[in-house]
Amino acid sequence: MRIILCGFGVVGQSLVKLFDSRAEDLYAKYGLKPRVVAVFDSKGSAVDKSGLDFDKLVNTKKKFGTVKNYANVKNKMTGVEILKNIEADVLIETTASNYKDAEPGMTHITTAMKKGMHVISVNKGPLALAFPSLMELAIYNQVILKFSGTVGGGTPILDYAKNSLRGERITSFDGILNGTTNYILSNMTTGLTFEDALKDAKEKGYVEADESLDLDGLDAAAKLVILANWIMGIKVTMPDIDCTGIRKVTTEDIKRAAKKNCAVKLIASCNDKLVVGPKEIPKDDPLCVNGTLNAIAFTSEHSGTQTIIGRGAGGIETASSILRDLLDIREEISRA
Ligand code: HSE
Repeated sequence: MRIILCGFGVVGQSLVKLFDSRAEDLYAKYGLKPRVVAVFDSKGSAVDKSGLDFDKLVNTKKKFGTVKNYANVKNKMTGVEILKNIEADVLIETTASNYKDAEPGMTHITTAMKKGMHVISVNKGPLALAFPSLMELAIYNQVILKFSGTVGGGTPILDYAKNSLRGERITSFDGILNGTTNYILSNMTTGLTFEDALKDAKEKGYVEADESLDLDGLDAAAKLVILANWIMGIKVTMPDIDCTGIRKVTTEDIKRAAKKNCAVKLIASCNDKLVVGPKEIPKDDPLCVNGTLNAIAFTSEHSGTQTIIGRGAGGIETASSILRDLLDIREEISRA
């Protein structure tokens, strides 16, 4: 399978390492031979139609901070030129989520789909701002758009609701979908102020480069948009979410909740409305997970409430979700 990889940060690098370490068994078990024919980051690109060397890509990035020094003769093509000119089966989009205009991911995804490439995106921006129209574009171009890593990272939240609960009617859900804010709120139960808990989360490398994405609830809202569209069939985008972050949560709020045997959590919920905001959750509710964990409780018509818990972020975890999507695409193509 020929792949173009956009973005070569932690997730992109984890993915090629995963391809490398699992090469034999991916071929033996699934007949999958991932051939990365082009990679580009914000500074340049590397192209080899017969397949780039995974080790060399990672080492080049480590040494030069970009993949553009991969070959002696540098590739001059921009990302969009690569997407237009290099033949590939799948685009894997891993550039950073941006909730203002969704670029550059939006251009990568639409260019690839218009050219007939299947797409795997772990970038939430384009889906959060234009989920309904991206789905239509995929159908129009007869390509597959997959995005299981956008919610829950390696934890298959979307697949669980879509496939495992197939035939059920999910009536509502509530989730802790942002690990960073969960870490901060969990630490505040030990008496830390919001500022100190934030400082600690930053030191641990959990907080996004633009902290507002975590703290103001935008990351959780983007995940809620994806869930609402994909699981509930509600055609919404980011502006439709009533969103409040955790900046105003105080240690007093946390203590008040604790007296009622509750914890304050940033909850994304789909009930009558789509809302992200701090909420008191009983400590003995399975949803009430701590640290950087994510959790989501789906309530359905006949099977009651089921909660799925797991790590919601991380390079290798997200790479594993991409592999899952890639295997699904391969299976769908071979069935067609
Ligand atoms: N900033 C996100 C989180 C990363 O803390 O959950 C995964 O989307």
